[in-house]
Amino acid sequence: MKKQLFINGEWKTTEEYSSLYSPFSGELLADVGYGSREDINNAIEAAYEARKVMAEMPSHERASILENVANLLKEQREQAAILIAKEAGKPLKTARAEVDRTVTTYKFAAEEAKRIYGETVPMDAAPGGEGRIAYTVNEPIGVVGAITPFNFPMNLVAHKIGPAIAAGNTVVLKPAGQTPLSSLLLAELFEKAGLPAGALNVVTGSGAVLGDLLVEDDRVKKISFTGSPEVGKRIRKKAGLKKVTLELGSNSAVIIDKDVDLEKVVSRCVSGAFSFQGQVCISLQRIYVHEQQYESFVSELVKATLKLKLGDPLDEATDVSALIHPKDVERALNWIDEAKQQGATVELGGKAEGNILHPTILTEVDSRLKVSCEEAFAPIVIVNKISSISEGINCVNDSSYGLQAGIYTNDIHTALDATQKLHVGGVMVNDIPTFRVDHMPYGGVKESGVGREGVKYAMKEMMEQKLVVFNRN
Ligand code: SIN
Repeated sequence: MKKQLFINGEWKTTEEYSSLYSPFSGELLADVGYGSREDINNAIEAAYEARKVMAEMPSHERASILENVANLLKEQREQAAILIAKEAGKPLKTARAEVDRTVTTYKFAAEEAKRIYGETVPMDAAPGGEGRIAYTVNEPIGVVGAITPFNFPMNLVAHKIGPAIAAGNTVVLKPAGQTPLSSLLLAELFEKAGLPAGALNVVTGSGAVLGDLLVEDDRVKKISFTGSPEVGKRIRKKAGLKKVTLELGSNSAVIIDKDVDLEKVVSRCVSGAFSFQGQVCISLQRIYVHEQQYESFVSELVKATLKLKLGDPLDEATDVSALIHPKDVERALNWIDEAKQQGATVELGGKAEGNILHPTILTEVDSRLKVSCEEAFAPIVIVNKISSISEGINCVNDSSYGLQAGIYTNDIHTALDATQKLHVGGVMVNDIPTFRVDHMPYGGVKESGVGREGVKYAMKEMMEQKLVVFNRN
């Protein structure tokens, strides 16, 4: 099946196509358009022209288009989940949850489209400001370039298109090479939902070529990117004066205090570390447990992880399936090997069958090893012993990343202290870092990124504030 590009409200053929295969079975899924320089240029031009139509569209109309998309997607929940499962290798039950979240994200976008408020400014607070009335308005920024990753091919795309359209912008989307089908489905839904031609354009193909052209084009006023820190830094360098939001990686951690009840904590840790094979930016990669609980925690974690079912993403029962690419399996195995050689203990896993890496638990891991200090993006979790919470906080902060962190404790003072000292974008008290609902501010510090997503917060970064001052003197 040939998948075309979506440019200026039309499905366009292109000169080249590339074959897309399932990461689990290797089955051919589609031949996907491999957009050229001319294609991306046409998409940017279409978005640039359509920006006037979108800027003039009343917010209630933008809201109803977004509401329509949410409803259309809800009707196609099962087909959409199967599409994600096939192209991303995401277990079906996790894929369904992603579709549900995507519906919610568009609903939030529809609501936020109607809540774009400015403020009045008390000008007479400064000498010389007397007799002036001032207020701010938020105007659409124009063309938004969106570059999205494979791991949430529907919801992370929604986190860019939803706020952009809600704010009255137009979009050129370059989805991840491995997961273009979800984006193309969303384009179909927007077309049905009544979005004007040119307001959303989807160009599939080479990330490096198309991404660079998008980032360097002066008609594009904002880049929203989710992916690796290396690419994020390159985008920042090339983007010139454009606004940029970067959602990058992490090696997220949780601290477990001496007196918490381990039962709930263990099942949350299993889900945080191994959901979607650990290919989540806030996946739980490092666990620091108080020495009084350490032994029982490790043995309970191993027991609970052994219950996970590995296999075909389309099988209802599967919890863990294939990594996105064989080279990621190889990389993860090399990192595990390095850890073993440097004295870490493999409590579970450490092997692969095809592209499925078995959920892997490592203990006594030196913080300088790759499995600890780099983003694993694989089903690997390390567990280390701490003798105090402040040691745990130091371990969590000893990272080049800072997206989200968690702490389990029964002591309110310990919790409050940790919320202040953890250097991350979000602290989850009595939960793992792998927690997100789609309207909360989401983003990191350090190498985890710049700016915030979460519909309302993303919209703020996709608008320009204009000040209006009336002089009554
Ligand atoms: C991400 O991997 O950055 C997104 C995580 C989520 O939305 O749950």
